[in-house]
Amino acid sequence: MLDYKKMRESEYVEKQYENVLALNERKNLHEKYSVNKKGFTSWLYEQYNFPTECSILELGSGKGDLWKNHISDIVPEFKLVLSDFSDGMVEYLRNEYAKSPVNIKKIDIQDIPYDNDTFDIIIANSMLYHVPNIDKALCEVYRVLKKGGKFYTATFGENGLTKFIFDTLKELHLVTENKTNVSFTLQNGDEQLRRYFANVQRKEYYDKLEISESNDLVEYIYSMTSMKGLSESQKTKMIDFYETQKNAAGIIEIPKEYGTFIAVK
Ligand SMILES: C[S@@+](CC[C@H](N)C(=O)[O-])C[C@H]1O[C@@H](n2cnc3c(N)ncnc32)[C@H](O)[C@@H]1O
Repeated sequence: MLDYKKMRESEYVEKQYENVLALNERKNLHEKYSVNKKGFTSWLYEQYNFPTECSILELGSGKGDLWKNHISDIVPEFKLVLSDFSDGMVEYLRNEYAKSPVNIKKIDIQDIPYDNDTFDIIIANSMLYHVPNIDKALCEVYRVLKKGGKFYTATFGENGLTKFIFDTLKELHLVTENKTNVSFTLQNGDEQLRRYFANVQRKEYYDKLEISESNDLVEYIYSMTSMKGLSESQKTKMIDFYETQKNAAGIIEIPKEYGTFIAVK
């Protein structure tokens, strides 16, 4: 049986992201099978409305993919800080953005090493649900954001890919209960943000997955650290299950629920 309690332990999350390959595996599934070809990251970037001169802090930047197609936007007038709490990601960012006017820092969102009212914009995408103390993180974000500054935080919804995976595991008796991490989702993020920010807006990205090779889905599931306890026979059981689904419908259709909150201080 899998140890779901581990999923929110900070050390555990850090381990999950020290290996960039696992993150790639998960992104590939979305790139290959998403119906909306714009892509969530491009859509997210379109939601941002950066003033010409501003200070921006990104927390939990991962591989810095948000900026990958917008390198020319990064000018010195953009005082941009990319950060992550994982050494592996920070090293990756240092190499990837060596030629850009970007400051790279190792930062835990729960303890941001900047003075009050420092940034015009703060971004923390697809990461708050990993954080053990979300209240502390939001309090820190609010503190270092300037008055009138914007906090953008993307997350997933409770009825998308993760629920689909856990429902399958339950059906195959690989888990007894669906204990998906829903600590910060499109459904409950608004309420959490409103404890700090009076003005909170939610925007949704419309998409779904249409998977034609069930093996890709199983590899994705295996790349999740919480699934490392699965044996080879359990993997085979999963492949058979998805293969049957695919043969019946031609594809495996999975709903996606992603979006972002925009909170103003
Ligand atoms: C799912 S990835 C998202 C990466 C990137 N924001 C994106 O959207 O592609 C989550 C990232 O958050 C980082 N992370 C998790 N907990 C963190 C924390 N407490 N403080 C800062 N970064 C954290 C992880 O190391 C990982 O790089």
